[in-house]
Amino acid sequence: MPKKNYENSTVAELKAIAKEKGIKNISKLKKADLIEALAALDKPAKKEKKAAKKEAVVEEVKVVEEPVVEEVVEEAPAEEVVEEAPAEEVVEEVVEETPAEEEVYFDTPRRSVAFIGSECFPFAKTGGLGDVMYALPKALTKLNCDVKVIMPKYECIKQEYKDKMVYRGSFDMDLCADGRSYYVGIMEYVWDGVVYDFIDNEEFFSGAKPYTTIVDDIPKFCYFGKAALAALNYMDWIPDVIHCHDWQAGLVPVYLRTLFNETPLSRSKVVTTIHNLRFQGVYNIPTIKYWTNLPDYVFNKDALKEGYEDANMLKGGLTYSNAITTVSNTYAQEIQTEFYGEKLDAHLRYHAGKLVGIVNGIDIDIWNTATDALLPANYDITNVLEFKKEDKLALQAELGLDQDENKLMIGLVSRLTDQKGLDLVNAIIPQVMDEFTQIVVLGTGDKVYEESFRNYENQYKGNFAACIQYDEARSHKIYAGADAFLVPSLFEPCGLTQLIAMRYGTVPIVRETGGLKDTVAPYNVHTNEGNGFTFDNYDAGLLLDAINRCKTLYFTNRWCWDEMVQRNMAKDVSWENSAKQYRDLYLELTK
Ligand code: ADP
Ligand code: GLC
Repeated sequence: MPKKNYENSTVAELKAIAKEKGIKNISKLKKADLIEALAALDKPAKKEKKAAKKEAVVEEVKVVEEPVVEEVVEEAPAEEVVEEAPAEEVVEEVVEETPAEEEVYFDTPRRSVAFIGSECFPFAKTGGLGDVMYALPKALTKLNCDVKVIMPKYECIKQEYKDKMVYRGSFDMDLCADGRSYYVGIMEYVWDGVVYDFIDNEEFFSGAKPYTTIVDDIPKFCYFGKAALAALNYMDWIPDVIHCHDWQAGLVPVYLRTLFNETPLSRSKVVTTIHNLRFQGVYNIPTIKYWTNLPDYVFNKDALKEGYEDANMLKGGLTYSNAITTVSNTYAQEIQTEFYGEKLDAHLRYHAGKLVGIVNGIDIDIWNTATDALLPANYDITNVLEFKKEDKLALQAELGLDQDENKLMIGLVSRLTDQKGLDLVNAIIPQVMDEFTQIVVLGTGDKVYEESFRNYENQYKGNFAACIQYDEARSHKIYAGADAFLVPSLFEPCGLTQLIAMRYGTVPIVRETGGLKDTVAPYNVHTNEGNGFTFDNYDAGLLLDAINRCKTLYFTNRWCWDEMVQRNMAKDVSWENSAKQYRDLYLELTK
């Protein structure tokens, strides 16, 4: 039946037809939903006719039920101004075509979301936060979300991007307790369906890097959080959800429920994602009071106050958020324990009812071995065994290593900090190095690691390369050229490098913590299953043991090794599933 005929029908008539056509849970569907559902079912029917004529295979239409999202909104704490979510309503019935050539959105109302965070690839990136701020909005646009990303307009953003930005407006904003106000400029760039709004203020954002010292960064992000909200109001863009990332956006929920309580924005729900609990934005209360002019009552121990005299920006943000997410299930559990809780474990246990873990993905358009222009040789799952070694040989030549396709090359791409388990790596390198093994390190960070890796490069000339630099292009060549990849982190909220490595057919060696545990299944030598070599306790001997297991398989059972390479390349590490979980969370909060 044509769609407009359905529109002329009554709800009762539509329900009768829907029932006849086998659509379930009809009582919950509204008229518009019924029409969409019936129209969606009719489409393939037309196809079937054509197909029958051509004697082709008829595609089956499936009615798939979506799982009901669990409630994540907890009761508000003392002095909380967060609205309670309305009574639960079940979102039902996803009708999907098979194969899903075109998305049917009738089950997914459109939602607008403002991402607020301090970095976003390719404009500014120091780690995985930048990757997520780029890839997740892009994935959400495919799920009927309207996404704006708000970040600082750092001086260090490349000119080619600055040239593309368009002036969207400016105003002065009151900020400090003494009435001092600051300029807020909004520069806009629309790309791939996502709107990027850059907050412009040279006084705060003129540093050579996004982050400098805590003394500068605290005022910078006190300003940024408020400016981001003020910019939304200024643009009259009131999102359904404001999604904040890490401590740099920690004050956004606090401002929203206090200083912005009387503005249209107060209608928005707010989500905070913890990418790394180690960084919280802690400084003395008088300084933060000065830079925010927030009311005294938010400096209580249930919100911003930490210890006797400090204010914790992330802690305050968590209190005033409707939902908290972190970037893997295991990390969501870990941060509620003393060891991983970074002194916020009790606070997180208190808010556990609104805390969920959603594992990160990677952008599989960027991380695509078949099309990656930075690779000397492209490959895919069908020819990886033939061509991946060309990338290894090219990398060996580029880095001045012995050129030998038979050596086991172990890669490491990382910020060089304690989080990443580099003290373990440092301790065992002499035992790992032999004439059949090479190690390539790419990273910058703590001087102690930069120096020790440089020393190892001298000591093991031809087999050890220490690239003490930040270099996106070189990282691609390492993911492709290496055979194995090290991520022995002390803690790892999610970790993207092991996901990229697997996508590139490189076998990860990881510690079983956070997202590493959730994404790398341990290799089982008896069943020949799993994705990599893992160890549990934070112990150099256990890391060495995992590397030795890796060597044994590589050198003595290449058949099983190659199968693991292909298994890893086939593993779904895209954003698709996780983006759906975020979308469901937004729907749950705003139904
Ligand atoms: P984290 O965010 O803790 O640093 P992730 O694994 O989530 O760790 O993300 C790290 C991201 O930064 C990856 O995209 C990785 O490739 C990239 N990266 C880290 N160090 C470097 C470097 N020195 N050069 C290029 N890319 C790097
Ligand atoms: C953080 C974490 C890392 C995570 C990234 C993106 O920087 O250290 O584990 O993958 O954020 O969420």
